[in-house]
Amino acid sequence: MRMTVIGCGYLGAVHAAAMASIGHEVTGIDVDEAKIRSLAAGKAPFFEPKLVELLTAGLDSGTLTFTTDIAAAAEADVHFIAVGTPQLAGEHAADLQYLDSAIAALIPHLRSGAIVAGKSTVPVGTAAQLAERIAPTGATLVWNPEFLREGWAVHDTLTPDRIVVGVRDGDEHAADALRDVYTSAVASGTPFLVTDLATAELVKGAANAFLATKISFINAMAEIAETAEADVALLADALGYDSRIGRRYLGSGIGFGGGCLPKDIRAFAARAEELGRGESVGFLREVDAINLRRRDRAVQLVVDALDGHVFARRIAVLGAAFKPFRDDIRDSPALDVAVRLRGLGADVVVTDPAALANAAAVHPQLAYEPLRDEALRDADAVVIVTEWDEYRRELDPVHAGSLVARRIMIDGRNCLDAETWRSAGWNYRGMGRR
Ligand code: UDX
Repeated sequence: MRMTVIGCGYLGAVHAAAMASIGHEVTGIDVDEAKIRSLAAGKAPFFEPKLVELLTAGLDSGTLTFTTDIAAAAEADVHFIAVGTPQLAGEHAADLQYLDSAIAALIPHLRSGAIVAGKSTVPVGTAAQLAERIAPTGATLVWNPEFLREGWAVHDTLTPDRIVVGVRDGDEHAADALRDVYTSAVASGTPFLVTDLATAELVKGAANAFLATKISFINAMAEIAETAEADVALLADALGYDSRIGRRYLGSGIGFGGGCLPKDIRAFAARAEELGRGESVGFLREVDAINLRRRDRAVQLVVDALDGHVFARRIAVLGAAFKPFRDDIRDSPALDVAVRLRGLGADVVVTDPAALANAAAVHPQLAYEPLRDEALRDADAVVIVTEWDEYRRELDPVHAGSLVARRIMIDGRNCLDAETWRSAGWNYRGMGRR
């Protein structure tokens, strides 16, 4: 099929390359010339496994092209809208300006019978308004939310857990076009759910709200465990064996960050307020608050371990990315902990296998060291804030102990074996662990 992907950020670039890889003829469109130049040269503006290979294959075969010219949309059968919907400055609601301008630019080029498929995460009710806007062109709007995890984005696009397509009453036929788009996934048994527009919009917000709640639930248990002298990591294992609960997303520590979960739960709650249903998701405020408290707690653990004397102490912060295998530092709890320790006057040195350049661009006040062992050298305390394999699996407590000034380890991701570290002479402190 001939298709456009409008908005070539994280979601759009991956979607465009993945769609070309399954045989579609795809044009990626974005207003950002630098981004388009880079993609057209086969370079991904961010790190994502398998993306460069798919970009190269699509560009070489001619099935994938990139342009800033929205007029290129005129020939396509399906238009995916994949622009960003960030958090509004100073508010919790989503900023829909990029969505508005993408639709406004697209409308003059829409032909009757075309399908516009929204993928961006939007407040419920947005799609119905967009459907009204494009109706005079004879094109049909459907809503097809994405559920990509960073680091798994290509995998999640090509082999999703489920495909959800929201349509207006009477537009059920439009879902068939999406069935054709995802024909290989559908053929291999991926559940394909046709819903109304509002349900499709809600699925995304609800999924992220659930995941964030699950993480904050275990972190709330960590707070209780801290006082009750219990061990939250063992508690999570024990809970996880209950197949109704499951162990995934029960990873305790300094909590969630990134470009999606924090902003999406805030936008979800803000929209519920607008609908007069604020109390229905009032718990999301707690979810957010628990999450942010864990960062305070990590800082407090460092302060306590240093007997209150943080000023001018050298602290090695292991990790800057919001999760391992990423160079993304958006709303990273790891960097937030580093910034707070620096704010207390500590001599903070941050190391990370991938995210240092991004971190330095946003927080130039921090010291950065690409080599893990150099970051550890002469440290008065070490804090693990992103559970990279380099720290979780490959860091030897005896070797690390020979580098640091004091063997104090604060495990902000509960990713180390406490006994191994303690028996190597470390004062090991996890989060919500005995
Ligand atoms: C998330 C959702 O998983 C995805 O479905 C949605 O489309 C976008 O948001 P992503 O932001 O890539 O994806 O990250 P994810 O792997 O879900 O992790 C989010 C944050 O939660 C990270 O900071 C991670 O460290 C933290 N996390 C995750 C925990 O603290 N504990 C866990 O058990 C799992």
